[in-house]
Amino acid sequence: MKKTLVACLLSVSMVFSVSSLAFAEETTEAETTETAETETTEAAETDDSKTTGYLTDCFDPDGPILLEGAMEMETSYMMNALENAEESYVGPFYCVSGTYKDFPVVVLRTEQGEANAAASTALAIEKFHPCAVINQGTSGGHDPELHTGDIVIGKTTEAGNAWKSTPSAEGEGVDYKAIEMQGVYSYDASAGEFTQKTSYPCDESLLKAAQEVKDTYTDGQIVEGVISTSDEWNNQADRMLFLHELTGSSCEEMESNIAAQICTSYGIPFIAIRILSNTGLHDEEFDPGTGEDCQKYVLNVAEKYMTSK
Ligand code: 5AD
Repeated sequence: MKKTLVACLLSVSMVFSVSSLAFAEETTEAETTETAETETTEAAETDDSKTTGYLTDCFDPDGPILLEGAMEMETSYMMNALENAEESYVGPFYCVSGTYKDFPVVVLRTEQGEANAAASTALAIEKFHPCAVINQGTSGGHDPELHTGDIVIGKTTEAGNAWKSTPSAEGEGVDYKAIEMQGVYSYDASAGEFTQKTSYPCDESLLKAAQEVKDTYTDGQIVEGVISTSDEWNNQADRMLFLHELTGSSCEEMESNIAAQICTSYGIPFIAIRILSNTGLHDEEFDPGTGEDCQKYVLNVAEKYMTSK
């Protein structure tokens, strides 16, 4: 009972600290500069952990690798593969920590969608101080070359629903193509402020690990591409093809770029890896078996990364 209360209070305070990061940009420029200067001076005097320039220093090079999936069918294989497994929660989000081939791992079930991905990733980073994060799971195809069972290594992720439309007058109708991608904000330690990015590049060492174990996956092709994140599930072929042409997106899902955004704010190496579980471009409906296939490959990527760093 007491433990639950402490956990709740902790989660609430974490969520407030996350939202206070988000609202930091609303202060005036003068205030921000003044506050940043004061904080930097104070930090330099009192806390060595702030020397990386990140607002909160949770990156631990010797920490566990954090493996994320939204649903049970996207996490249970990895959770069951852990030795010395310990269950816990960050806020309402379920985690299992343990070891895989002797290196430390935390598997987090983020639950579906953007808000859950943000909250669970931030809470897990605060609790476990990971050395790296992989967000993985299922997705739908945007690239006509891809089919169910193919895996996309996210060289970049992007906010598929962060756009601004070109103005038009009442009665002129709605042109879904008249948009310009805007991107989303993450903390940039070198600039000392939140900056807007349309595209989030993956970490090079994680990419190298993913490339080096490509041959372990034989149920489809593995490509390097763009993973597009939004709380949308698109089924109209023309829209999917338009998004593919506009942004180069290989596939769509609901969590990866959010985790990338949060990891960027914390300065933690990140990559997204998504398997196509469906593609409306070829009338291929959701295949739940792909969830496990992706996890098997991601464990190989994690092993390569953890044993070569
Ligand atoms: N569009 C959006 N999300 C998808 N997902 C799988 N396929 C798609 C798709 N075509 C993933 C999301 C979310 C859940 C609905 O499955 O990431 O977690």
